[in-house]
Amino acid sequence: MAQLWGGRFTEKTDDLAYDFNASLRFDIRLLPQDIRGSIAHASMLGKQGILTEKEARLITDELARMASDHAAGVWEIDPEAEDVHSLVEAELIRRIGESGKKLHTGRSRNDQVATDMRLYVRDTIDALDGDLTALLSVLLALMEEHAGTVMPGFTHMQKAQPITLGHHLGAYFEMFRRDRERLASVRQRMNVCPLGSGALAGTTYDLDREYAAKLLGFDGISRNSLDGVSDRDYLIDFLSALSVIMMHLSRFSEEIITWASDEYRFIELSDAYSTGSSLMPQKKNPDIAELIRGKCGRVYGHLTALLTTMKGIPLAYNKDMQEDKEGTFDAADTVRSCLSLFAAMLKTAKFREERMRLSAAGGFTNATDAADYLVRKGVPFRDAHGMAGQLVLLCIEKGITLEELPLSEWKSICPLVEDDVYEAIRPETCIRLRKIPGAPGMIRDEIAEAAAYLGEDRKN
Ligand code: ARG
Repeated sequence: MAQLWGGRFTEKTDDLAYDFNASLRFDIRLLPQDIRGSIAHASMLGKQGILTEKEARLITDELARMASDHAAGVWEIDPEAEDVHSLVEAELIRRIGESGKKLHTGRSRNDQVATDMRLYVRDTIDALDGDLTALLSVLLALMEEHAGTVMPGFTHMQKAQPITLGHHLGAYFEMFRRDRERLASVRQRMNVCPLGSGALAGTTYDLDREYAAKLLGFDGISRNSLDGVSDRDYLIDFLSALSVIMMHLSRFSEEIITWASDEYRFIELSDAYSTGSSLMPQKKNPDIAELIRGKCGRVYGHLTALLTTMKGIPLAYNKDMQEDKEGTFDAADTVRSCLSLFAAMLKTAKFREERMRLSAAGGFTNATDAADYLVRKGVPFRDAHGMAGQLVLLCIEKGITLEELPLSEWKSICPLVEDDVYEAIRPETCIRLRKIPGAPGMIRDEIAEAAAYLGEDRKN
């Protein structure tokens, strides 16, 4: 295929250099966005009288046909095209002849690709928002189901205090809610149209930039033409938001992997989301969770790569920027598949409530509540803390739990203890008494708020 820029050249590009420079292999993905951008540009040229209305209409109609041909798989793509922009223009000219040559009036591939990529990120953020919302719905259903499922809460990976599974899952609900907000703020900041920035210094044609921007659903236009063609901050923001999503998924995966181990047995993953070992017949491995944890590194990698690519680029467009695409596409694809697989894995998993309850009852997770009980009996907290410590020590020596410690032993450490202590240190009581906002005793309120946020009509 003839190159868009052949006029000034007398020698043919070296084959290896051509392949190295070409981007069609990956930017073909921008074809729908490239056509959308071109339709808006041509319509604007028609409105401004830069093209006749008839020419503009001919171009936009054919571009629309090309988009549907592509969607239907009947447009045979020329693999020799340098990039998606050359491909679309060449095909348009092949189909409608001379008028097609006017499409690129007042435009450069630099503002064109900047527009395409913004449209792609916007579309992808909208899809990711759907993925995140679906995961939040799965979480909400589990929070309701397990509002009263007692489990140990951990700090330093040591059993700390009793909580409920619903409350534990609620923490992830908050993380993924923030992920939605983060993406929404990236979207809002990036939703300006660079078309009209030209190669770097705008154009001499009387373009109506606002009009083209509006046709493409942008909130406005970029303010500086140099920045318009060379800003990739929004991709860094996007990759950063994607990295945070992966960090959340990875933490959650780590817990699932731990909980699925024989030591914990808090969760039984569905066979549909587990795999076996080629050697050890007994094995059932949480590979999906492990892969999601593993893919976190890949998304962080794309963020680091683009930050590094951008750090030494002078104004305005430089070809280095073509490196923004593969990583961004891969990161978005990775996060989308991780989100939907994670949601499916979670939805089909079985939580072992009896194991969690048993685990919460051991490890003295109610020692704080024993101290709080003593405080309610009039002992100052620091003394109560010391006494509860002594009680724990006593139990460790005897190999029993605080619940199993006879009242006489309690009284030997603090004579104020009555037999209501046993009710006070039941894990369910420890949870129920934690009634301040955000604590596990308020899980019903937490669930109601989460349901209202998701706009789901739920009981309770
Ligand atoms: N393939 C290029 C990119 O992704 C498109 C812009 C090319 N512009 C240019 N002046 N060669 O960045």
